[in-house]
Amino acid sequence: MVASTAPASGQADGEAAPIYGVKIPAGYRDWRLISVAHEAGNLNDFRAVLGNDVAVAAYRDGKLLFPDGAIFARLAWSYVPSEENYRVFGRAQSFVAGAPTNVQFMVKDSTKYASRGGWGGAQFKDGKPADEALLKTCFPCHVPVKARDYVFTRYAP
Ligand code: HEC
Repeated sequence: MVASTAPASGQADGEAAPIYGVKIPAGYRDWRLISVAHEAGNLNDFRAVLGNDVAVAAYRDGKLLFPDGAIFARLAWSYVPSEENYRVFGRAQSFVAGAPTNVQFMVKDSTKYASRGGWGGAQFKDGKPADEALLKTCFPCHVPVKARDYVFTRYAP
């Protein structure tokens, strides 16, 4: 018997996102971990940033610009307390990933996305792409890290 685990959100053969035409890349859930983060406030999530082989190789080689074909996936889950973990630690100190919130992608193609720093973006929730209005907010918010090719996340040792 083969145990199968559903991907955190969405399917690889689903709908393309507006503006950039990015689809959920096949196999992204198996990409390598670059780092993790926690956003409080309205987002209140846990997130992991994964990279495909091209993205990970560029970090390891210390490249300043990511080559075409590099893709980042940002997965996020709600931030929930774990009663089960509390019991073994003897106090309320554990938070774990709850339901997935959404997944975002950044795809490097310096020709196709030349007007936006070479990156195409997309966000999916339960496999459904976010609308054009939301996608217009991606690039401007990543501009402050232009010097790192618009990528915030640093490779965690
Ligand atoms: C309010 C500013 C803001 C907006 C809007 C925004 N991002 Fe980001 N993004 C960030 C920050 C900050 C990080 C790193 C920390 C984190 O993940 O919380 C990040 C991380 C990422 C990452 C992981 C790679 C990296 O740069 O660290 C991807 C992929 C990503 N965002 C895609 C998108 C997409 C696609 C959109 C639009 C749907 C978007 N972002 C909108 C601020 C933003």
